Amino acid sequence: MPSGVPPECVVCREIVFVGTTCCSAVAARGFRILEIRSQGLAKLGAMPQIFRHSTNALAKVSIFGAIFILLAALWAAAELHRSSWNTGQWVERQQPIQFSHKHHTGDDGIDCRYCHTSVETAASAGMPSTETCMNCHKQIWADSPYLEPVRASFRTGKPIEWIRVHDLPDYSYFNHSIHVNKGVGCSTCHGRIDQMPIAFQASTLQMEWCLGCHRNPEKFVRPADRIFDMEWRPENRTSEHVAEGRSLLSKYQIQKSEVLTSCSTCHR
Ligand code: HEC
Ligand code: HEC
Ligand code: HEC
Ligand code: HEC
Ligand code: HEC
Repeated sequence: MPSGVPPECVVCREIVFVGTTCCSAVAARGFRILEIRSQGLAKLGAMPQIFRHSTNALAKVSIFGAIFILLAALWAAAELHRSSWNTGQWVERQQPIQFSHKHHTGDDGIDCRYCHTSVETAASAGMPSTETCMNCHKQIWADSPYLEPVRASFRTGKPIEWIRVHDLPDYSYFNHSIHVNKGVGCSTCHGRIDQMPIAFQASTLQMEWCLGCHRNPEKFVRPADRIFDMEWRPENRTSEHVAEGRSLLSKYQIQKSEVLTSCSTCHR
């Protein structure tokens, strides 16, 4: 304590107001401030015992309790935001016809571009017309009841209404051709479509997912002749593979991540 200070005065580290408690250490001993003598010096008096000491502990417990409940609620909200309930990830859609990518691409080896014809040239990958299906199904499984909806569509000219699996909100812009032409393979974003009897969304498609790659594209790009290769690694994990990815960035002339993460890239 500084010299000349009356014993009832205590130096506090905090700015204090008359009638309030001083720094917590002093307050804990049951004093309150009667009068401020000068900066940092205060006259203390005994705190009236309105609450019993045990109330202190109770107050602390309830404050921690409230913080805990708040954090738990925030965590739950964040999890819900990421959950498939919100993003549609993993959810299989019931289609008008049970079309199996596993049979057509995995087992029969049909190239993605046979049906998704505009994936290299346009924003949208494109969906196959009934004629595309009938190229084969006039001969193969021509009488199968499974394919009756396809034949009906062919007879009537009414297109098959596929239920969308992936669907970004309108305020975000996406383009297939730029990704496919700059070394991002189908499986990096869509997973092993060739193993799916029913197509589902393998990624969250949330903004943080897009940005995860736009910040570090070297972790994902692959050689141009591997875009449709479902078995190629979806992500470059080892330092050797990342170095390969980095050299592809200059080969494809991929822009700096500041450009790729700027809002106007995807919100135009
Ligand atoms: C024989 C035609 C055919 C081939 C080949 C094909 N697809 Fe499809 N694809 C479809 C049809 C039909 C649908 C719609 C029904 C569905 O969602 O399962 C579809 C749906 C999709 C969807 C979901 C579209 C949406 O609604 O969001 C993705 C992704 C996809 N295909 C990727 C691929 C990839 C990758 C390949 C190559 C490995 C491929 N497809 C090969 C016919 C084909
Ligand atoms: C390039 C040829 C080819 C095209 C194009 C094609 N299919 Fe098939 N499809 C097959 C073959 C081969 C099978 C037999 C599948 C098997 O057992 O591997 C088959 C089987 C099927 C079956 C039976 C169930 C199953 O999955 O095994 C359905 C349903 C079907 N195709 C729907 C379609 C639809 C819808 C389209 C158009 C979007 C389409 N196919 C386009 C070759 C084709
Ligand atoms: C960079 C990630 C990415 C890559 C790579 C990618 N896709 Fe997609 N794909 C998407 C997104 C995102 C959507 C949803 C687009 C929308 O809702 O506007 C989508 C939608 C689709 C659809 C539904 C029709 C459409 O265009 O909206 C098909 C079919 C499809 N993709 C096939 C493919 C095929 C085949 C490849 C590989 C040649 C491929 N995709 C590569 C992200 C990707
Ligand atoms: C796995 C990596 C990857 C993912 C995931 C990805 N992108 Fe990209 N994106 C790229 C690469 C690489 C380019 C090419 C950049 C260039 O040409 O400089 C690109 C380019 C783009 C461009 C064109 C930029 C321009 O300047 O013209 C748009 C728009 C875009 N991405 C939107 C999206 C959206 C929206 C998503 C999420 C739904 C997404 N991307 C997910 C890798 C990715
Ligand atoms: C690489 C593409 C990309 C870039 C860059 C990007 N966004 Fe997004 N953003 C998206 C996509 C895709 C969605 C839709 C996400 C969804 O459906 O959950 C989205 C959603 C949003 C939303 C809606 C709320 C949410 O999170 O779902 C806001 C707000 C937003 N973006 C703001 C921004 C701002 C601000 C920037 C610049 C700092 C930015 N975005 C940069 C792709 C992008």
